[in-house]
Amino acid sequence: MKKALLLAAALAVTTSASAAGKLEIFSWWSGDEGPALEALIKLYKQKYPSVTVDNATVSGGAGTNAKAVLKTRMLGGTPPDSFQAHAGQELIGTWVVAGRMEDLSSLFKSEGWDKVFPKDLVKLISQGGKPWSVPVNVHRSNVMWYNPAKLKAWGVTAPKTWPEFLKTCSTLKAKGVAAPLVVGENWTQQHLWESVMIGTLGSANWENLWAGKLKFTDPKVVAGFTTFGKVMDCANKDASGLSWQQASDRIIDGTSAFNVMGDWAAGYFTTTKKLAPNTGFGWAPAPGTTKTFVMLADSFGLPKGAKDRAEALNWLKVLGSKAGQDAFNPLKGSIAARTDSDLSKYNTYSKSAAADWKSNKIVGSMVHGAVAPESFTSAFGAIIDQFVASKNSAAAAAAAQQLAVRAGISK
Ligand code: GAL
Repeated sequence: MKKALLLAAALAVTTSASAAGKLEIFSWWSGDEGPALEALIKLYKQKYPSVTVDNATVSGGAGTNAKAVLKTRMLGGTPPDSFQAHAGQELIGTWVVAGRMEDLSSLFKSEGWDKVFPKDLVKLISQGGKPWSVPVNVHRSNVMWYNPAKLKAWGVTAPKTWPEFLKTCSTLKAKGVAAPLVVGENWTQQHLWESVMIGTLGSANWENLWAGKLKFTDPKVVAGFTTFGKVMDCANKDASGLSWQQASDRIIDGTSAFNVMGDWAAGYFTTTKKLAPNTGFGWAPAPGTTKTFVMLADSFGLPKGAKDRAEALNWLKVLGSKAGQDAFNPLKGSIAARTDSDLSKYNTYSKSAAADWKSNKIVGSMVHGAVAPESFTSAFGAIIDQFVASKNSAAAAAAAQQLAVRAGISK
């Protein structure tokens, strides 16, 4: 009897502890980027109804603002319970090497995740044979978006190479399209640079660049910068004031013909703008990158010292689950990181991305943290700004090489 009472008391403590439970999730998915995360939180709340979720967001595409706030909090000893980071060098090279994250090996084991996430993705989130975050998705960075009706009216098609793009650009200019290409603020220009570079160098050389086997000062890379400069000559002049969503809007309203952006743009077109794939918006691999899938993944980790550790672990379980990934990704424009997701829940765009993810050559994105550490990515923006102003390819390549040496990428 006494034992039963003790057990009841213990249970009451557990329940009241979780009744008072809290969970703070930190990300940059606010506003138009919010619905997918909200769907995931809804699922979490169904499982853990008594936990109060603080959906802490710092807006700004690609996490440019959020990462700065995160840094202050991590260094100040007040980490969020779980935060968004990119799978790969961004998290590994920053918070994992600094010893600020918890090893998630036992979670991966209990959830059987070694078997449901692709091996290469597990490798990307691991260091020293241990996983340090849970990937919720796979995004594709090298996509060129357009408005099918507009391209038809202009009599052009999506170009397959960058030289062909430059020709199409001239054709469109002659037809009165002032800015055939739309770009936005600095990180979206870095995003474009990545696609131009891969489309010019090829995927093997791109890998060599991040493995320290190809120098930024190599003539091939210098030529890539020159092509990027010509491509930028085709773009709008008010880029620095535009968010990625505002740039996407210019495709839909027909101000510009093309935009190179990650497939969160598909999420924006379908979830926010309610447009249908193939009619409301069209897509093609960025020029020169057919059969290459430039990947990135949003991943959540558990910082050491998280105030609500048990709740954070449950959050990670939900976002790594099949139900979690299939609630999140159809709204986000990404595909599930898991290999067992239910494709019938995804639209035509995502189905095509899922097919390419299986059959294409996979390389990692720099600007979204897969192949380069944060120390490189955060400083590369200034090189791009300077290049766009000067168009001096040799100077930009030399500055990038110096940065690669400082970031430990190259010798
Ligand atoms: C990426 C992120 C995506 C999306 C995008 C725009 O870095 O991985 O999920 O949020 O930025 O903000």
